Amino acid sequence: MNNSKFFKQTNTYLKKNLYYNKKLDHKILDDLGFFVIKDAFDQKIVEKYRSKFLKEISKNKLQKTKNHLVEFKIEKFHFFKKIYKELKLKKIVKGFFNGNVGSDFYRIVKKDKNNTKPVFCHQDVGYQLGSFDRYSLFISLTKNNNLNGGLIVYPSTHKFGYLGDVGQISKNTTKKFTKTCPNLECGDILVMHSSLWHESEINLAKSDRIYFEIHIQKSSEPSTKFIICGKKRGLQSNFFDKKKIFSNSRIQRIISLKKQIKTMKGAE
Ligand SMILES: [Fe+2]
Repeated sequence: MNNSKFFKQTNTYLKKNLYYNKKLDHKILDDLGFFVIKDAFDQKIVEKYRSKFLKEISKNKLQKTKNHLVEFKIEKFHFFKKIYKELKLKKIVKGFFNGNVGSDFYRIVKKDKNNTKPVFCHQDVGYQLGSFDRYSLFISLTKNNNLNGGLIVYPSTHKFGYLGDVGQISKNTTKKFTKTCPNLECGDILVMHSSLWHESEINLAKSDRIYFEIHIQKSSEPSTKFIICGKKRGLQSNFFDKKKIFSNSRIQRIISLKKQIKTMKGAE
């Protein structure tokens, strides 16, 4: 970590590679904000989802989300929902939120020989709705590492919590912290707290770099769409439309200002 010896344990965990194990260690996950579960899924399961995903792309039924660097929205294919029924997944998530675990979304993030771009440093939590106690499970459907633009994490930065805005975290801020790119084999899962700072480099190897991302949260969160295990309690999100919560948010103001600029330019 940085010079101030921020979080004593962090360096020890990193030096000894203690964040790689077949069994998830929640203490290490709490301290580092991430953990790699080795061999979480066997190759047969990985192949099932990878081949379906690549097949739909080859048939042009699936495309990268417009204006997003790596995202493929797969929710229209019910096939991928089967992931929530996988016994190995249930066993892993049972250790979260007293066994009452829900999910608000799943998607695939992919780089390849045609899409090699890096992703800037950010945290996910500001883009999500609900409490700040949430995680992504990145299931490796390919080998993912520093050569093909694998995810890079800044250990323990989730301890800073939500940073009060969303977007690119400056290099002046990140340079003070250690970063690491976990080396993942097919079937490994990178578990990541949603407040953890993360980024990815260019895909130098130009090989496929594919993660099946499942986002988990307390099943009682209003935005929960899928129950993986336990019970669902609490409010439902159907009290309001997520896209229409605000009458004047920052994003709405930016859109409105951009429109004004366009109009002014048109009038020139
Ligand atoms: Fe992210």
